[in-house]
Amino acid sequence: MNNSPHSPRAHQHFETLAIHAGQPADAQTGAVVTPIYQVSTYKQDGVGGLRGGYEYSRSANPTRTALEENLAALEGGSRGLAFASGLAAEDCLLRTVLTPGDHVVIPNDAYGGTFRLFAKVAERWGVQWSVADTSDVQAVRDAVRPQTKLIWVETPSNPLLGITDIAALAGVARQAGVRLVVDNTFASPYLQQPLALGADVVVHSMTKYMGGHSDVVGGALVTSDAELGEELAYHQNAMGAVAGPFDAWLVMRGIKTLAVRMDRHSSNAGRIAEMLSGHAKVTRVYYPGLTSHPGHEIAAKQMRDFGGMVSFQVAGGEEAAVAVCDRAQLFTLGESLGGVESLIEHPGRMTHASVAGSALEVPADLVRISVGIEAVDDLMEDLRSALA
Ligand SMILES: Cc1ncc(COP(=O)(O)O)c(C=O)c1O
Repeated sequence: MNNSPHSPRAHQHFETLAIHAGQPADAQTGAVVTPIYQVSTYKQDGVGGLRGGYEYSRSANPTRTALEENLAALEGGSRGLAFASGLAAEDCLLRTVLTPGDHVVIPNDAYGGTFRLFAKVAERWGVQWSVADTSDVQAVRDAVRPQTKLIWVETPSNPLLGITDIAALAGVARQAGVRLVVDNTFASPYLQQPLALGADVVVHSMTKYMGGHSDVVGGALVTSDAELGEELAYHQNAMGAVAGPFDAWLVMRGIKTLAVRMDRHSSNAGRIAEMLSGHAKVTRVYYPGLTSHPGHEIAAKQMRDFGGMVSFQVAGGEEAAVAVCDRAQLFTLGESLGGVESLIEHPGRMTHASVAGSALEVPADLVRISVGIEAVDDLMEDLRSALA
């Protein structure tokens, strides 16, 4: 689709690419939205005579292709790949680039499912891992071993909103001859572009801000390394956890409004973080937009804005934190994040239960909120009464 008027152009802005990249009007009907090609196989004009390159929808499907071209454009990569979930994308990456005996540096704050994938699945296949505070460049340098193949980073991290200097770690990775992977789920490509900062691969749970409406589960990998892109695409087909056409379509629909949603998520979250910082029942607030956040300056350098995720610790310990989650009404108690509606959860008992007892264990009095795009005054009133 590179000769189409809707192919990505270097001079086009993010908001334009989000709506148009990979999504020309339908050649047959003129439909301005890429159709949902709900199909598994394609008629061949004679054996091996493929029309448009499609033969079987695990290998490629036109709706998924549109999303994958869009993802590559938004992250500034050469290859985007869409998967059935964020963890399916991570699994494909691990099994493409790692073999038994290889070592991975993982962050001391990360989504619990990512930790579980390394600790409970990859380790059984002979992959070694160790944990480092990735906000400390020297700590990462020290953690690299001769067997290290990947440095894995989440920034901002889940759930403690830690900030890692992507450009600095790209330097460490280059020097050590290893690859830098950045999970860009919390920021989205609108707020942060890891490939431009030197990362080799970007990972997304598209379930979150990319989809944006809590109605789809999906994952993505994007790279600007053409050879690695080919290897990943080979494994995506060989392993098979692809995004289905309807899911791909839902994510594309979400991405069209990503920029306006992220602006609103960020401004609402900034106001709420300030409010929580002055609240008597809150002992600590984690939000990179606060000047008191230790990663604030790096976040300001590498992010367009600070995003919609805020975590905070509640005076009174674990039961007090659980009670805040239970009392909130407009903030829906639930896992996940990144939708238009605000969510609240207790990471220790919910999203991060799988890291209990590990180096990634989260504070028991921690509450995480995904600030939606509702009226911020209503959201603040709900939190104030949940904290009362
Ligand atoms: C930062 C991060 N990465 C990856 C994942 C995994 O994505 P999925 O749930 O789509 O498999 C999640 C899920 O919560 C996440 O928060």
